[in-house]
Amino acid sequence: MVRKNQSITLDVGALANRKLGKYGLTRAQLKRLAPRVKQIVRRVERERADGGHRYRELPHDRLMRQAVEEFAKALRPRTQNLVVLGIGGSALGAIALHQALNHPQHNLLSRRRRGGPRLFVMDNVDPAHFAGMLDVVKDDLPGTVFNIVTKSGETTACLSQFLVVRDLLARRLGPEEARKRIVVTTDSRSGAMRAIADREGFPSLPVPDGVGGRFSVLSAVGLFPAAMCGIDIKDVLKGAAEMDDLARSTSLQRNPAALFAAVHYLYYKKGLDLSVMMPYSNALSGLADWFRQLWAESLGKARKVSGSKVVNVGPTPIRALGVTDQHSQLQLYREGPNNKLITFLEVSRFEQDVPIPNAYHNQPALACLGGASMSELLNTGKQATEQALLASKRPSMTIRFPSVSPHAVGQFICMLEVATTITAGLFGVNPYDQPGVELGKQITYHLLGREGYERVDETAGRGAR
Ligand code: PA5
Repeated sequence: MVRKNQSITLDVGALANRKLGKYGLTRAQLKRLAPRVKQIVRRVERERADGGHRYRELPHDRLMRQAVEEFAKALRPRTQNLVVLGIGGSALGAIALHQALNHPQHNLLSRRRRGGPRLFVMDNVDPAHFAGMLDVVKDDLPGTVFNIVTKSGETTACLSQFLVVRDLLARRLGPEEARKRIVVTTDSRSGAMRAIADREGFPSLPVPDGVGGRFSVLSAVGLFPAAMCGIDIKDVLKGAAEMDDLARSTSLQRNPAALFAAVHYLYYKKGLDLSVMMPYSNALSGLADWFRQLWAESLGKARKVSGSKVVNVGPTPIRALGVTDQHSQLQLYREGPNNKLITFLEVSRFEQDVPIPNAYHNQPALACLGGASMSELLNTGKQATEQALLASKRPSMTIRFPSVSPHAVGQFICMLEVATTITAGLFGVNPYDQPGVELGKQITYHLLGREGYERVDETAGRGAR
């Protein structure tokens, strides 16, 4: 029996197994790193008091939550389709919340059963993908809301999508009606999209100051689409707020975010610089994708905060799915280079379970399945993978969800965001910038003939080696 709002747990016990030999992690290794982690947690708390690490305040921001809820409440009754237009951190959080907390076949349910609109998140400019979405929603444009999400308000991919839908809406419904079907989530002061929203009177929600794309899922960026679809965002934020409180602790035993960071850092130093997140739950696979961006874009850095030396650090995050990838990736994980730390995501109780009927008693392969449930089979698969990896000295740990609830998902999001900040502290890099992305953006502008980008500044990516 799982109590409501039970906490997720990080179980690193398997890393102490003697069978891992030099790939194991000892208490002494963690103890040696603990003072540095403590220093970082203290520094982060001091910087928070001065307005830093703003994403940490989102779970506690009641006014922000109420504004999102009211916005969604007003729009929901007349919205059959919600289309999110955004990329990277402006899309992955919405996808993760949707996959985790909406019905697995949300868009195929009747409106009554869904409770909210169908959700489409367009995080690419693939013409076939985009046209495919338009093909579906064009039959009910009056019932469709387009949520343009861009922190900078300047991202080519998102702006091009906006131009397409604005034109379509204006042609089909007229400019006045079109305006009511566009909601802009962007910076409250700067950027092209802010200027357009203000001038043309599009309803808008702010991306809070100091919160970058990949840390913005608990703002209107992720919460507005979630609330529109009927997800209990209050519970998501409550879970996140509880984790935020735990993550103030300087003790590795009490602070799961700090422990996750410390373990990853120590393994990176041992040469295991690939980090595989492997949920045994389809619902959690979007969160693993979200984490992939958070970890890569925040930690993959050429330079340390202090000093100009090129260091080129950063663990490479990989997303796998159990049991599916037991029949694909596991071969590599067991027999390829021993350079991966695996984090399993395990669910104790599934929202729905599927019993497996008894039949074919004379066929051992089928007879052993009868009477079990699919959740047992899934979690047995996880146990089997864990043991198989251990047999090849491959280290793994587990984040356990009592269930995939809004509360647990909020805890998980906050835990990994804080873990990212702490890991960045251990590497000595800035988790909130992304200079490596700049050069590609500038070349795109240059190739598109954007004014002011006649010459490309190749030093924008000068950290790369
Ligand atoms: O995390 C980030 O900062 C990026 O992934 C951005 O979210 C992405 O580049 C989109 O940027 P914007 O929201 O400004 O359109």
